[in-house]
This record gives sequence, C-alpha cells and structure tokens, in this order.
Amino acid sequence: MKIVNYGSINLDHVYQVDHIVQPGETLLAADQNLFCGGKGLNQSIALAKAGAEIFHAGVVGEDGDILLDALRAAKVDITHIRRAPGASAHTVIQVDRKGQNCIIVFSGENMRPSEADIDRVLADFAPGDAVLMQNELFNTPLMMRKAAEKGLAIIFNPSPVSREMLSYPLETVSWFLLNEIEGEALTGETDPGRILDVLAKKFPNGSVVLTLGANGAWAMDRGHRFFQPAFEVQAVDTTAAGDTFTGFFLAGISSGMPIPDALRRAAFASSIAVSRKGAADSIPTAEEVSLAE
Ligand code: RIB
Repeated sequence: MKIVNYGSINLDHVYQVDHIVQPGETLLAADQNLFCGGKGLNQSIALAKAGAEIFHAGVVGEDGDILLDALRAAKVDITHIRRAPGASAHTVIQVDRKGQNCIIVFSGENMRPSEADIDRVLADFAPGDAVLMQNELFNTPLMMRKAAEKGLAIIFNPSPVSREMLSYPLETVSWFLLNEIEGEALTGETDPGRILDVLAKKFPNGSVVLTLGANGAWAMDRGHRFFQPAFEVQAVDTTAAGDTFTGFFLAGISSGMPIPDALRRAAFASSIAVSRKGAADSIPTAEEVSLAE
C-alpha cells in the first residue's frame, strides 16, 4: 500500500512570547525563528521518520527550497509537489512560556492545488493505496471525492476545523485522526466517550483516533476501543505534536502493527516532539523513539 499525503507545506515564523496576545494588546517577542512546517509537511516527515514510504502532494513557491530540502532529507518522495510562482504558504505562530501555541496560516492563490494537480497525483495511485489529508489545503473535498471514486482509502485529519468541512464527503473516510476540538466540531459533543459514540453512529465505516493532549488518546476500530495514556514531559513547544502522533500511528498500522502498539509508539514520539522547539524539526526518528521507550 502506497500512502500519498495531500498536504500543506508552510514556512513557520515562530515568535516566543510570555503569553498569547490578547485582543487590542501589543506584545514584545523574546525570540523569533523560521521553521519548516505545515500540517501536511510535518505529517509526511513523521511518517517517513517512522519508517513508512510516503509521497507528498502539494505546492511550494519560489522560496520553497528549504521546504523541499527538509522533505527530501527525511526521504519523502516529492515528485508530486508543484513549484509555483510567488511566495510559499506561511504561518505566524506564537509559543508561550508553557509551550502552548496559536497559529495563523496564509497561503496565496498560487499555492492552491488545482483539479488538474489532483488528477495528476491520483494517476500514480491505485485502489488499495491510501491518501492522507488535513484541512489546510485548497480543494480537500475534491481530492476526497476523486480518491474515493478511484478506490483509495481516505485518512482525514480535520485540522484546522472549518464549517465547510461538515459538507465534505466524510462517509468515504476510513480513518479519522482528530483531537477533542475537531471531535466537537464533527459531533457537537465535548466528552471523549460521547465523541466516539457519535462518530461511530455517524460514520460506521470509519475508524477513529482521538487525541486528548496530556489526557492520552483513544482509538476506535470496528467496535473495539483502546486507550493510551500520555507520557509525562516538560512541554517546550507543542507545535506538530499532533502531526507527529498522526505520522507514527499511521506508519505503525500500515506496517501491520497492532493498534495498541501503534498508539503507544505515537504517544511516545509526540511526547518527544513537545520537548523540542519547532514543527518538523521537533519530530524524532524511529530510533530515538525505540531507544528511549
Ligand atoms: O500542526 C502544526 C502546523 O500547523 C504548523 O507547522 C503550521 O505550519 C500549521 O500548519
């Protein structure tokens, strides 16, 4: 099974702040860094570092060398990334002294994959392969529909949440990978057990991973539920913790690892990611995960 990740590729401008800026407030940042990021790029790198063969599909701008280099260095296949005129998508990220973040994403029109891009990508994949997507890239529902028509398995991380995503063809999704905010957006529920109950009812063919930060993670697959506690760690920067979890979990299950083992490895990998600065840079290798586990 080949996995293609239809995902965002961003330049992250990260500002270290005392607290997340309030409406009307001006805040001095203590530090500023430029990192490679994007939920898509982070998840591809996490999958590759966890040992999966992963193809990335997306768009970068004229300033995208650093992003392509990061993907290439992690051994992600970048054949399906189109180079477009203009600046790559970027983010403004604040990280506070507890390691919590808030993120604004901007991608110009040139960075939007077209229907022709989607058709070109899908031409290289066959029934039985899988497409991973987040909700950060233009034309996500179109990719979902076309991939499902072609018989690809759909793995969806509904992040960031949008109102429009409720009208996506979500019945085609095989795996939902979400946190409690995304779970609430899809179900209207806040309690983790209720989120799983409603998802099971709405999407009987979909399996679920529900991450709860320091409160652990649940997986639900064909009527079975599994719980994984979080590993305790001093958080430095939580950016890409969820992406790391997603990549390690998917790499695990796609290699035939039992769900409880894949959950444990993903939780451990993401605990390492939150102890480091940056997005893609914070993702550990499989060796680091297995040595420290
Ligand atoms: O999930 C973290 C990522 O979200 C960051 O790298 C940023 O680019 C945004 O896409």
